[in-house]
Amino acid sequence: MKSWRVWPQSLAGRTALVLLLALTAVQAAGLTIHALDRVDLQRFAQAREISARAISAWRTVNLAPADRRAQMLAELELPQGLDATLDGRPIARLDQPPIPPPIARMLRLDLLGSGPPRFRPREVLTSWGERSPVFFVSLRLPSGEWLNLRISLPPPRPWHSETFLIAFFAMTLAAGLLINWAVRRLTRPVRLLAEAAERLGRDVNAPPMPERGPTEVAKAAHAFNTMAERIRRFVGDRTQMLAAIGHDLRTPITRLRLRAEFMDDDEQRRKMLADLDEMEAMVAATLAFARDDSAGEPTVALDLAALCRTVLDEAADARPDLADAIGYKGPERLVVQARPVALKRALANLVGNALLYGGAARLVLTAPEAPGGEPVRLAVEDEGPGIPVDQLEAVFQPFRRLEASRNRETGGTGLGLPIARNIFRAHGGDVVLRNREAGGLVALATLPG
Ligand SMILES: Nc1ncnc2c1ncn2[C@@H]1O[C@H](COP(=O)(O)OP(=O)(O)OP(=O)(O)O)[C@@H](O)[C@H]1O
Ligand SMILES: [Mg+2]
Repeated sequence: MKSWRVWPQSLAGRTALVLLLALTAVQAAGLTIHALDRVDLQRFAQAREISARAISAWRTVNLAPADRRAQMLAELELPQGLDATLDGRPIARLDQPPIPPPIARMLRLDLLGSGPPRFRPREVLTSWGERSPVFFVSLRLPSGEWLNLRISLPPPRPWHSETFLIAFFAMTLAAGLLINWAVRRLTRPVRLLAEAAERLGRDVNAPPMPERGPTEVAKAAHAFNTMAERIRRFVGDRTQMLAAIGHDLRTPITRLRLRAEFMDDDEQRRKMLADLDEMEAMVAATLAFARDDSAGEPTVALDLAALCRTVLDEAADARPDLADAIGYKGPERLVVQARPVALKRALANLVGNALLYGGAARLVLTAPEAPGGEPVRLAVEDEGPGIPVDQLEAVFQPFRRLEASRNRETGGTGLGLPIARNIFRAHGGDVVLRNREAGGLVALATLPG
C-alpha cells in the first residue's frame, strides 16, 4: 500500500505544488489588501451617513418647539447604528475617555460645534461606550435638555460581494489548472528520456528518440541518440571481433589436430587431441555466443509459463533418469514481452546446470501481484553441493568453471551462465545465484512484469 505523502515524488508534482503555494500566497495577499481597502471604504461611508443623520437630528430637535421635540425626534428616520433620545441628563460620561479627534472628525461631530451660533449646542460631551465601536455623544440644548446620541459602527463586511468571491475562486482554479498543464508539458521530455533509456537497456536496437521540441529538449534527445548509436556500434564491433577470432582459430586447430595424429607417443597424442577437442568446443561456443548476440531477435508477447514447461520437458527427455527430480510450480499462463529463442536458451542453461551439477531442477515462477512495477520472478532450484559463496558471482565470467566440474567429464565450456545473464539483462531483468538453506543452489532470475 502506498503511504500518502504531502511532498510529491515526481518533478512535475513538486513544481506544481511550489507554484500553487506561491499562487495561493499571492492571492491571499491580494485578497487581504482588497479586504482592508473595503473595510476602510465601508467605515468611511458609514461614518458619513451617521454623522449626516446625527446633525439633522440635532437641527430638528433644536428648531422644534419645546413641546414637540420628543415626538419629532421619534418620527425621524435614523440609520442603523444611530440612536437618539432626549433626556434630562447626558449619557456621555466625563469619567470615560472622550472620542479621539480622528474618529470625531470622521464622524464630523466637529460640525456641530461650528454651525451658526444659534445652532450651536451649549455643551458637547463625547465618550467611548463599554464595547469598543460604540460612542456616546451628548449635546446640550438651550433649554437645558440633552440630546443623547448612541453611535455604533456595525462590523464591516469585507467579503460582502459574492461576484467578487466567485471570480476570485474561478481565477485561482483556472490558474491552478494552467500550472498543472504547463508543468506536465514541461516535464514530459524528462519522462520521455527516462523511457528511452529504459528501452535502450532492454534492447540496444530500440528505435531512436524523436529530436523535436524546444532547443534544450531536442539537444538532449540528439545527445541520447548519439550515445545509443555509439553503444550499438561498440556492441556490434565487440561481437564481430569475437566471431572473427573464433572463426580464425578453427584453421590452426585443424592443422594442429593433423599434426598431432603423427605423434609417436600415444599418451601425449591422446592428451593433445583431448585439449584440441576442448579448444574446438570453446571456439564453437564462442561463435554461437556471438551469433546469438547479433541475431537481433524481435520482442514478442509470449507465455512464459508454457516456455518454462517446454524447457523442463526437453530437459526430462534428455535426462530420463532425473525425470522425477524435474518439476514446475507457478501459474498456468503468464504473458511477458520477450525474445523467445534467447529466453529459452537462458532458461535451458539454468535448468541444464541444475541437472548437471545439482541432480534436480525445480522451477518456481511467480507472477507480480499487481501489473507494472514489480518484476516476474523465476527460480531454478537443485539439490547439489551449491557453490562457495566467494564464487557465486565469479561463475558468471565467461569460461569460468569450478574445480569440481573441471575434473568431471562434463564437457561444458563455462559460457552457460554468462550467456543466461546476458539474455536476462538484455530483457531488463537479471539473474543471480544463491545457496539454499536446505542445501543445493538456486538461480534467481527476474524479468520486467
Ligand atoms: N547448479 C549448480 N550447482 C553447482 N555448481 C554450478 C551450478 N551451476 C553452475 N555451476 C558451476 O558454475 C560453473 C559455470 O557454469 P556455466 O553454466 O557458466 O558453465 P558450464 O556449465 O561449465 O559450461 P556450459 O554451460 O557452457 O556448457 C560450472 O562449471 C559449475 O562449476
Ligand atoms: Mg552450464
